[in-house]
Amino acid sequence: MKVIVKKDYEEASRAALEIMLDIIKNKPDAALGLATGSTPVRLYELMQEDHEKNHTSYKHIESYNLDEYYGLSDDHPQSYYYFMWHHLFNKLDIDKKNIHVPSGKGDINEVTKNYSQLLKDHPRDIQLLGLGSNGHIGFNEPGTSFTSTTHYIALKQSTIEDNAKLFFNGDVSAVPTHAITMGIQEIMDAHKVLLIACGERKAKAVKGLVEGEVTEELPASILQRHKDAIIIVDEAAASLL
Ligand code: F6R
Repeated sequence: MKVIVKKDYEEASRAALEIMLDIIKNKPDAALGLATGSTPVRLYELMQEDHEKNHTSYKHIESYNLDEYYGLSDDHPQSYYYFMWHHLFNKLDIDKKNIHVPSGKGDINEVTKNYSQLLKDHPRDIQLLGLGSNGHIGFNEPGTSFTSTTHYIALKQSTIEDNAKLFFNGDVSAVPTHAITMGIQEIMDAHKVLLIACGERKAKAVKGLVEGEVTEELPASILQRHKDAIIIVDEAAASLL
């Protein structure tokens, strides 16, 4: 596992951009595993800027998102489908048919089975991750099995509170209680993993991820066993290392 410490969020996002572009330019039909949340927002802006300025093509790029809230329709402003279009896809030349976000509605068994099969058929060249303050990756909350595949999960209260603050104007009751998430095994199947964590509220999870024991109580710690995992943190998130 390679740990890169950058001064701040901007520098961390720029370092992540280099890694993403390296994949996209060298493999025009690469499969990208993508994340939502506040962390990748700047990276996605930089990808859009690069596309406009340098015409990096996404025509044959495929995308597979990590997760989706259960119960929100695609056009709900807080759905991850909506988020991805708003923050990234709308300004790229990516083909709509190559975009995949797990469905947040319908029969749970069908949805999870189909998404798992899709992931099996389309290995990701890179998986982008944020980090929950409780150490989750995707919506794999503490206690999730390392061998999990796509599944339905109840969000921990701490995750609901974090997301209420960031995206739901502090209204805890508006945050969906459940989600569909790619499993940890499927995250580990990506050829390369790129995790970005910034800010002091991530410092404890970053310490566990980098220096702690590998335990299902801190899902991100499994990345210590990935053959090509890059962790980009800013100085605040690295403050306990
Ligand atoms: C998002 C996701 C989550 C977030 C994590 C950090 O698709 O899977 O694991 O990456 O909750 O969220 P932020 O970036 O908002 O701190």
